[in-house]
Amino acid sequence: MKNQFAKISRNPVSLAGVVVTTISAIIFLTLFAIELVGFSGGPYVGIMVYVIVPAFFVGGLLLIPFGIWRARRKAKLATEAGEAPAPEDFPVIDLNKVGVRKTVLFVAALTVVNVVIIATATYKGVEVMGSTQFCGTACHSVMTPEYTSYQRSPHARVKCVECHIGSGASWFVKSKLSGSWQIASVLFKLYERPIPTPIHNLRPARETCEQCHWPAKFVGDRLKIITKFDEDETNTEKKTALLLHVGGTMGSTSRGIHWHVDPGVRVSFVSDEKRESIGDVELTLADGTHRVYKASTAPAKPVKGTRNMECVDCHNRPSHIYRLPDEEVDDALFDGRIDRTLPFIRREAVKALKATYATREEASEKIRQAVQGFYSASYPDLVKTKALSIDTAVKSVQGIYNSNVWPSMKIAWGAYPSNLGHTAATGCFRCHDDEHKTVDGRTIPQDCALCHSLLAEDEADPKILKELIQH
Ligand code: HEC
Ligand code: HEC
Ligand code: HEC
Ligand code: HEC
Ligand code: HEC
Repeated sequence: MKNQFAKISRNPVSLAGVVVTTISAIIFLTLFAIELVGFSGGPYVGIMVYVIVPAFFVGGLLLIPFGIWRARRKAKLATEAGEAPAPEDFPVIDLNKVGVRKTVLFVAALTVVNVVIIATATYKGVEVMGSTQFCGTACHSVMTPEYTSYQRSPHARVKCVECHIGSGASWFVKSKLSGSWQIASVLFKLYERPIPTPIHNLRPARETCEQCHWPAKFVGDRLKIITKFDEDETNTEKKTALLLHVGGTMGSTSRGIHWHVDPGVRVSFVSDEKRESIGDVELTLADGTHRVYKASTAPAKPVKGTRNMECVDCHNRPSHIYRLPDEEVDDALFDGRIDRTLPFIRREAVKALKATYATREEASEKIRQAVQGFYSASYPDLVKTKALSIDTAVKSVQGIYNSNVWPSMKIAWGAYPSNLGHTAATGCFRCHDDEHKTVDGRTIPQDCALCHSLLAEDEADPKILKELIQH
């Protein structure tokens, strides 16, 4: 046994391996024990304990045989050159000798400990790397916008990996490969700003989204009421009411908006990189119907091949929802984060938000100056009587800015448009533009009644809502 250690310690590489492994094992076991007792240090400690320390541990372990191999090779070369006697052969393991038995037992025990450490670290490491905190904060400033928008979305309780990876080993490996690249690109600041979208290796949505939502579950219509405010002194409230034909596959035939993702329907298309400009669209139905809708203008830079339409071609912002100043201010006025009795607040808030600022700090400061400045100049009385309202409004407007705009990542208003409608971005009208035609003149229609009934549009007090909601 002493003999073996002597051999290892005579070669510096293996010795370094032993030292690294031992220290990592001690750190790992200590931190693991601390966690078992109930202390949790958050994602960074998790990354340390289960990713970085084990990496050193394994690295050290690998160094030991590498050092021995290197030493033997050196000795062999020296013998060949006639400079040294031939190295000994591999030791004969004679279990009849007490010393050898001890060594074998010792090595076996160490191996068991190693296997336990590596298995625990792998299991916990995968868990840590799959956690939302890891994805959202490990790369720090880079992912902050995605993490922030995610936390405000309906999917704030769905883990990043459930959409970005899903279940199954092959996607896991793929994502870890691209993940390693992402880590490298963050370290060396190679990433593009803003982070480009769409994500080309995003797993087919049908394998991720459909774990929780399935087309047969959507049926019928959905009433959607949108509240907006005018830019007048009283911030007049207006309502738009839409009956969206969400549709679905319940029953035998599928209809409405979710018809596109019926298992018997395949819509595929050619498009540019960002899927904003859509070329020829092909439709294949289960009954064999096949149509090609030729685009009147082809995308300037089409990407190769066609893409089968799926959830994220419409729901491209299910989780990282960036909104526009108008929508945000309307919501804040509606739910009281901004006092709607403040004169012209709709107009002033939107104006302050739309200005360009170099940093978030500058934005916060200038937004405050703009809103307070407006009231001091135009409504000096209010500055006293409604001081609290004005202050709350300022904070809400700053909050809106900070949830949507990231000058350091070059994310300005509208950097990530949503494809779900057709008012803020082209959305549905990328195809439903009456400009995609089959040879016999059939178009992808733009009739307003195809997707929704417009029950009221920007009306101050729509009759339909009075009937629906009786106060
Ligand atoms: C509900 C599903 C879902 C969840 C949960 C989710 N994402 Fe995404 N993510 C998407 C989709 C969809 C896209 C855009 C894909 C496209 O357009 O091709 C996207 C895009 C991104 C992008 C590219 C930039 C952008 O905004 O388009 C990053 C980075 C990202 N996600 C990180 C994260 C992180 C970090 C988390 C967890 C904090 C997370 N995602 C959680 C669905 C999700
Ligand atoms: C792990 C489960 C899970 C996955 C995966 C998931 N979702 Fe969801 N999704 C939910 C839950 C839960 C809600 C309901 C949230 C609520 O009502 O506030 C929801 C809500 C929604 C809504 C309704 C939002 C609204 O404003 O009413 C849409 C649209 C949606 N998801 C689309 C998607 C898309 C697209 C994907 C794939 C990129 C996806 N989801 C992946 C669980 C999931
Ligand atoms: C053709 C575009 C399109 C496609 C493709 C699409 N959706 Fe939708 N989806 C919509 C629209 C539009 C709405 C209604 C939005 C609203 O209520 O504001 C909607 C609503 C939803 C809702 C909320 C439904 C409700 O009634 O509460 C969920 C969940 C959802 N979609 C999930 C999915 C999933 C999962 C897929 C893929 C299997 C998918 N969608 C494919 C356009 C689409
Ligand atoms: C990639 C192209 C494409 C996009 C984007 C697209 N559609 Fe379609 N849509 C089609 C095609 C093709 C048809 C079939 C037209 C026909 O009947 O000839 C269709 C048909 C429909 C129908 C009729 C389905 C039925 O009941 O028969 C509805 C409703 C619809 N789309 C809603 C939407 C909405 C809402 C959006 C945006 C959220 C959208 N579409 C985006 C290609 C698209
Ligand atoms: C291909 C489907 C489709 C067609 C065709 C269509 N819409 Fe829409 N429209 C939508 C969807 C989807 C939304 C978004 C609902 C939401 O906010 O989630 C919408 C939203 C709207 C809104 C509310 C926008 C807002 O924020 O105030 C108005 C108004 C509207 N549509 C008018 C029209 C008119 C007018 C036509 C006829 C020229 C038309 N739409 C044709 C799918 C369609």
